Amino acid sequence: MQKVRKAVLPAAGLGTRFLPATKAQPKEMLPVVDKPLIQYTVEECVASGIENIIIVTGRGKNAIEDHFDSAPELERFLEEHGQPERAELVRQISKMVHFSYTRQRAVGDDQVAVLAARELVGDEPFAVLLGDVIINGRPVTRSLMDVYEETGVGAIAVEAVHRDRLRLYGVVDTKPAPHQRWGDKLHRIHDLVEKPAPEEAPSNLGVTGRYVLPPVIFDYLAKTEPGSGGEIQLTDALRHLARAEGLYAYVFDGKSYDAGDKLGFLKATVELGLENAEFGDEFRAYLKTVPL
Ligand code: G1P
Repeated sequence: MQKVRKAVLPAAGLGTRFLPATKAQPKEMLPVVDKPLIQYTVEECVASGIENIIIVTGRGKNAIEDHFDSAPELERFLEEHGQPERAELVRQISKMVHFSYTRQRAVGDDQVAVLAARELVGDEPFAVLLGDVIINGRPVTRSLMDVYEETGVGAIAVEAVHRDRLRLYGVVDTKPAPHQRWGDKLHRIHDLVEKPAPEEAPSNLGVTGRYVLPPVIFDYLAKTEPGSGGEIQLTDALRHLARAEGLYAYVFDGKSYDAGDKLGFLKATVELGLENAEFGDEFRAYLKTVPL
């Protein structure tokens, strides 16, 4: 089976749910505790063994490239001013992995972004990570890569979602597909529905923004017509893939934070702040003093 070496990170969105913060700044660069949002997904890729990250950007997104580039003046300044640890922190960001960039010409959705990466991905399986979602614990992308590398079938991460929130997710219709290695975490997908009304949702399993897909998905993406909300949806292409070639849903264990809107972002900031090794305890003590 072909190894999964590449990951595509769509980062061309306008960040409209975050205005005014995102008027002149990419949403992907908003800091959650001490790192820009997109660095969390990049680190998940690195922890999963991805070798090449393809970031799909657009107009106004140059800060993303600068962030993952080397910064010799800053590194030198920090070295010369007795801050070697900070210099190393800065250096590591550009050395983690190989980055490639491509631009999405038209403003569009994740589907168009993934398609924009077709040339750079080539004829091999690849991961897609939607940057709004931060996932803690064992890297989920690694688990999806394991499923693909063992079975040759694509896999997407799902988690149980409260009924009231299903309309914010792609929702899967599955049958259990117990597997020696993954037990009942693995399901076969029969259908997917993008952002269903709660009474129309086929299950409570929501798609969490992590995918490992075979290259044939590009053909399905190229053929898919606009779906929910008039947008061309990645989910619709996945439905075709599931029917024609098979697709697994993998129910992962870790905790996910959807930092894609203001409230989710605040929750992620508080929870990840509490976990911070340097000041988490102090932050907890502070929160207890906040009148609620
Ligand atoms: C996207 C996907 C959706 C998925 C969600 C996870 O939606 O289209 O299927 O469940 O990410 O966060 P978005 O949140 O970008 O509208």
